[in-house]
Amino acid sequence: MTTPSTARFDHLLSSRARIGWDGSVTTSRPVASPLYEFGGGFPDPASFPYDGMVEATARMMKAEGAEALTYGDPQGYRGMRELVCHKYQLFENLHVTPENIFVANGSGAALALAFSAFVDPGDPIICEAPTFSGSLNNIRRHGPEIIAVPVDADGMDITAVREALERLRRQGRRCKLIYTIVNFQNPAGPDLSIPRRHELVSLAEEYDTFILEDDAYGELRFDGDTKPPVYALDRNGRTIRAGTFSKILGAGVRLGWLCAPPAMLPAFQGFNFGGGVNPFMSRVATYFLREHMEPHVKLLINVYRAKRDAMLRGLWEVLTGTDVEISRPAGGFFIWIKLPSGTDPARLEELALAARVQYTPGRAFFPGGGGERHIRLAFSYEQPDKCYEGCRILARAILDARR
Ligand SMILES: Cc1ncc(COP(=O)(O)O)c(C=O)c1O
Repeated sequence: MTTPSTARFDHLLSSRARIGWDGSVTTSRPVASPLYEFGGGFPDPASFPYDGMVEATARMMKAEGAEALTYGDPQGYRGMRELVCHKYQLFENLHVTPENIFVANGSGAALALAFSAFVDPGDPIICEAPTFSGSLNNIRRHGPEIIAVPVDADGMDITAVREALERLRRQGRRCKLIYTIVNFQNPAGPDLSIPRRHELVSLAEEYDTFILEDDAYGELRFDGDTKPPVYALDRNGRTIRAGTFSKILGAGVRLGWLCAPPAMLPAFQGFNFGGGVNPFMSRVATYFLREHMEPHVKLLINVYRAKRDAMLRGLWEVLTGTDVEISRPAGGFFIWIKLPSGTDPARLEELALAARVQYTPGRAFFPGGGGERHIRLAFSYEQPDKCYEGCRILARAILDARR
């Protein structure tokens, strides 16, 4: 989005709308028509089930008629909520009921509902540094005090979470929620370890706060075993889980959800203004995924694993011998790179721009500044040959950008 140039209504804006109005929130420098699109987490367009969606739409319209085109259940189309329960059971052995699910306009909007329900300006919340830039912008719009904790190979640093909670308690304050991306953390890549998942649950209870568990990619696991969702470990009803169909069906369907204790759902509903979110598209997605979810996800796992491997091969062929650090995520869409020492990030941006390679600079992911030594690459969009080729070009640019 470009920064609006007119000042005609600036003085009338709400304080929430003013956050990021100066353009400060958008931090990557877009390459005009990139040859290698490694910037955003865009799903692979070649993997979209075009014919299947046409067929599902026709089948759904025949079966549902006018129901499909009128206002829907405020909590979201029940068929989709049942499907989400089935998906959770299938991939993660998580047992919930449709009464736990609240449909939203993608998981970005689902997270915004949770922030709206619990976070007032100035409230302390804890999140990872680095964390997903989109969520960071989403969080900033709600104006909280963001307390950042580091991420290591086991995910969010739980000792740092405890220290932050304890510090707040000494000040007579309470953290409103702890936001964490549990699987293939975006951007750094690790899974939150199982012991840490348990510790997080205990901390939420001990310090009377919530966990907002963001899982946008969990089914797209290439290696290793699925870890139990924090939601499944929490017997105290202190976890809200956000999910999405963006990565396994298509981001254009704009369908996500929150999974939460039923008593909490009216707090989200108040921000949704009636009619339910996207009843028509919820039905189309449900009719398609009811028939095809498992084989389609299996296909996607192979698609994205090949891209990750191609990208890693391209990077390591050129950068071996330097002190670069390159993540090897067990799933998801992203590779996180700590640039070799002496790399000039501004020079790298120039060189990448000239080579038309789009990536996201690390600074987009840190709430309180920093990240200059990091970049994030999305392997999701380009085909494997372009992942390989573009990464070799980028890796050479990294070598050339050393001071
Ligand atoms: C960690 C994470 N959460 C949430 C989202 C939001 O996805 P959507 O709004 O398309 O469901 C994304 C998208 O890239 C993501 O990476």
